[in-house]
Amino acid sequence: MGPAVRRATTGAPDSIPAHWLTAPFWSKMSVMRGYHDGSYGDGFADVYDDWYAGITDTDTSVAALAGLAGRGRVLELGVGTGRLAIPLAATGSEVHGVDSSEAMLHRLAAKPGGHAVHAVRGDMVDDLPVGPFSLVLVAYNTFFSLLTEERQQACFHAVAARLGEGGVFALEAFVPDTQSTAASSLTVRSVQVDRVVLSVSTADVDGQRAEGQYVEITEGGGVRLRPWSIRWATVSQLDTMAAAAGLVLRDRWESFAGEPFDHDSARHVSVYTPRSGVKSGHVRS
Ligand SMILES: C[S@@+](CC[C@H](N)C(=O)[O-])C[C@H]1O[C@@H](n2cnc3c(N)ncnc32)[C@H](O)[C@@H]1O
Repeated sequence: MGPAVRRATTGAPDSIPAHWLTAPFWSKMSVMRGYHDGSYGDGFADVYDDWYAGITDTDTSVAALAGLAGRGRVLELGVGTGRLAIPLAATGSEVHGVDSSEAMLHRLAAKPGGHAVHAVRGDMVDDLPVGPFSLVLVAYNTFFSLLTEERQQACFHAVAARLGEGGVFALEAFVPDTQSTAASSLTVRSVQVDRVVLSVSTADVDGQRAEGQYVEITEGGGVRLRPWSIRWATVSQLDTMAAAAGLVLRDRWESFAGEPFDHDSARHVSVYTPRSGVKSGHVRS
């Protein structure tokens, strides 16, 4: 059947293609050789704000996030160049961000308002700042940058340990198409007289993994590779991981605009909160 990833969004690429060619040699995908936590950010930092400016409605997202934060402390996992964190800090919340890419954080710090975000370089599981936080968020499929179920589960635990009383964890991601078959693809992102950008990707549906490269070929500059790699999870798998960490689903929308989530939704914003009776925010300063 159709695409492994519905309607074209993963954390890294903006164009997981709609048509995947069967690639039977991909029975168990291993992580691309040399790929590490900083590979995505370091590869995309110079083009991120340009290529991903319109991925979601930033104003609407920030307004919804500010409502969830209620002016309390906020932590963004994979804060990147501060697309959300900078305007969120301007609403009056104390905003912290963690990101594994020095290049992304350099871009954040160089922007107007960037210094209002308390940004640290580190991993979104192992290096989270101390809580408690009113809101922890992970936007635009960034959660899927954690490449195993174990790391994703560990992230839920790390977040749950930092939520304050009544705190929430907002996770924005695409809805995988569980009916899809394994596939690989080559598509064209842009063509100019002296530059072409191709998108190469491959997926292992059983393993819930996909990875790829944006290949930029310029007449003067040779070839530039921008790699990405993800492990996706269904909404029910996310809910199960949340439950194991003592969290329950409070809301699920199609986007930060608050449209209802249903069977046809291609993406979701899931808002988790500590299950009553479960002690929250025990990793504190
Ligand atoms: C798709 S970008 C999202 C940036 C920003 N949150 C936004 O919505 O525009 C994903 C970010 O996650 C970071 N990242 C990937 N894996 C990470 C990890 N294990 N720990 C911390 N940050 C990570 C990347 O460096 C990158 O900046």
